[in-house]
Amino acid sequence: MKGGGRLVLIFGLITALIICFAQCMDSGKELKATETSIAGAETCRQCHQQVYANHLRDPHTHTSHSVLVDDPLNHTVPRSNTFEFNKRLKVLVEKRKGALYQVAYLDGRETMARPMNIAIGSGKHSFTFGSWNGSILHQLPLSYFRSVNSWANSPGFPSDKAYFTRSLQVKCLECHSSYIRHTIEQTSALAVKEKLVKKSLVYGIDCERCHGAAGKHAEFHLKNPEVQQAKYVVLYRSLTRRQKLDACAVCHSGAAQEELKSTFGYQPGEDLNEYFGHVPGVSAESEPDVHGNQIQMLSRSKCFTNSTTMDCGTCHSPHSVQKEGFAVYSKKCISCHAEIKHSVKTLANAMVKTNCIDCHMPLQSSKVISFQQAGQQGVSAYKLHTHRIAVYH
Ligand code: HEC
Ligand code: HEC
Ligand code: HEC
Ligand code: HEC
Ligand code: HEC
Ligand code: HEC
Ligand code: HEC
Repeated sequence: MKGGGRLVLIFGLITALIICFAQCMDSGKELKATETSIAGAETCRQCHQQVYANHLRDPHTHTSHSVLVDDPLNHTVPRSNTFEFNKRLKVLVEKRKGALYQVAYLDGRETMARPMNIAIGSGKHSFTFGSWNGSILHQLPLSYFRSVNSWANSPGFPSDKAYFTRSLQVKCLECHSSYIRHTIEQTSALAVKEKLVKKSLVYGIDCERCHGAAGKHAEFHLKNPEVQQAKYVVLYRSLTRRQKLDACAVCHSGAAQEELKSTFGYQPGEDLNEYFGHVPGVSAESEPDVHGNQIQMLSRSKCFTNSTTMDCGTCHSPHSVQKEGFAVYSKKCISCHAEIKHSVKTLANAMVKTNCIDCHMPLQSSKVISFQQAGQQGVSAYKLHTHRIAVYH
């Protein structure tokens, strides 16, 4: 995976077993896969069925996907299929030639139509859409926002024109997909040209984005079904706190990080310094945002700096069956805060025992993401719970 292409070894259960029965016994169980061979989630499924089933419900899995004409927004029906920029200009989402298109009209006359090929975002909060133009992926003018159940002008797009030619950089896909082959060419002192290989895109964040290449692990266990001890795979529990944080920070420390090399090659346990030139969170970075900067925010909390164990796994488990509600999160707070010196006024609040989150990790508006709704002046806020745990008044 590092540097080169993502070598996908498909071990169909049957083929693998046939090969295994035919050869394993006398071949000394030689492994063909290397430390960087990718097996793909379908291979993991064979032996990790429950984890796989939970993974299918996780937003990571759906954070990029192809747009299906019949159900582009996963059962969501927006209020209307039209976004009016102003009286003369509007963009409609239309079904054409077996695909969905975003179509711009000026004074009722069609000026541009582009297919919606891929969606970025699981839709928990929003979806934005990419349209292929050769080796370039253009972001389309309309995005969907759940908080208003409606189409809105894509964040950062001009408010007076339907803009169709903003490129979605490979960087988006480094956090929102598992792999895409690409080349980056320096075209001038200040400009680079990226070319993406459409067919190589692996949608969603799959097992090996978080666990590292596990082709050798899968091959070994397929050939040695009697071995119950995990081989050739990084064990999270053996990582240091910093390494565990880095494994999440690779995508949860914001898009402003300069990259020394592509994070597609990152394996848990590696030092993020080698990718970013610094460790996110601990340096004096500029004001972090609630969107994307969970590491930096958490690093500014006393809970984090004054405890030796807190990491993302303290509160989040990517494979939990149930999605944590605030009551469950609050139990995690109480596990460290058995006795709290709340004032009489605070104690009078009904949620003081069951919902620590709304007071101590309140919803805050992102400073980098906001969106423009049709017919409205100004922009609407994009709100997330802050990870700077503190006393807010
Ligand atoms: C042929 C069966 C098999 C396949 C295929 C397989 N694994 Fe495993 N895996 C095991 C066994 C056996 C263990 C050790 C017992 C356990 O932890 O479940 C294990 C353990 C693990 C662990 C470590 C759990 C821990 O203790 O921390 C991870 C992570 C893991 N596998 C990931 C994967 C991924 C990712 C894939 C797909 C690329 C995969 N496995 C494919 C059999 C398999
Ligand atoms: C978003 C990152 C992420 C993704 C995606 C992911 N994992 Fe994990 N996985 C983790 C972390 C973190 C742990 C350690 C969790 C813990 O200790 O509570 C873990 C634990 C495990 C374990 C051992 C513990 C257990 O629950 O059995 C296995 C096996 C495993 N993962 C396999 C997989 C497979 C297979 C997939 C894909 C179907 C996958 N993981 C996708 C992050 C991820
Ligand atoms: C390859 C990039 C990547 C890695 C690695 C990664 N994440 Fe994420 N994570 C994302 C993206 C992108 C989203 C937004 C998903 C969406 O579209 O809703 C997300 C969403 C989440 C969410 C919100 C999902 C929900 O259920 O609401 C949590 C919590 C989270 N990540 C925790 C973690 C933790 C903990 C780790 C480390 C073990 C981790 N992530 C590793 C990219 C990543
Ligand atoms: C450094 C990693 C990173 C990069 C780069 C990145 N994102 Fe994200 N993105 C995330 C994470 C993490 C989340 C979810 C948590 C949050 O909002 O803080 C997210 C959330 C989103 C969501 C909302 C998903 C949902 O429903 O919750 C969309 C849409 C999105 N990103 C699109 C993009 C686009 C388009 C780009 C490129 C211009 C991009 N992102 C670049 C990490 C990244
Ligand atoms: C791993 C243990 C741990 C967990 C889990 C934890 N905290 Fe803390 N928290 C601490 C420590 C340690 C301090 C610092 C206490 C001190 O030194 O005064 C602290 C401080 C605080 C403070 C005071 C902050 C300030 O700036 O004065 C608040 C409020 C707080 N925690 C709330 C929470 C909430 C809410 C949660 C759950 C979302 C939580 N904590 C989870 C360990 C933890
Ligand atoms: C003390 C507990 C705690 C810790 C530690 C923690 N989180 Fe969270 N996280 C929460 C809570 C509470 C929410 C809000 C959940 C919700 O809105 O459903 C949340 C939400 C998120 C979301 C989803 C944001 C959204 O609204 O879609 C992401 C992404 C996330 N956390 C990532 C991380 C990462 C990465 C780390 C490690 C740097 C981390 N968290 C550490 C408690 C924690
Ligand atoms: C209604 C809002 C609210 C809720 C709910 C709430 N807190 Fe607080 N918390 C506060 C305020 C305000 C303070 C500052 C002291 C005061 O005025 O009560 C505080 C102070 C604290 C402190 C610092 C004081 C100390 O004892 O060190 C901790 C820790 C803390 N809260 C943890 C929690 C935890 C854990 C929960 C959930 C079980 C929780 N809080 C629920 C508002 C709240």
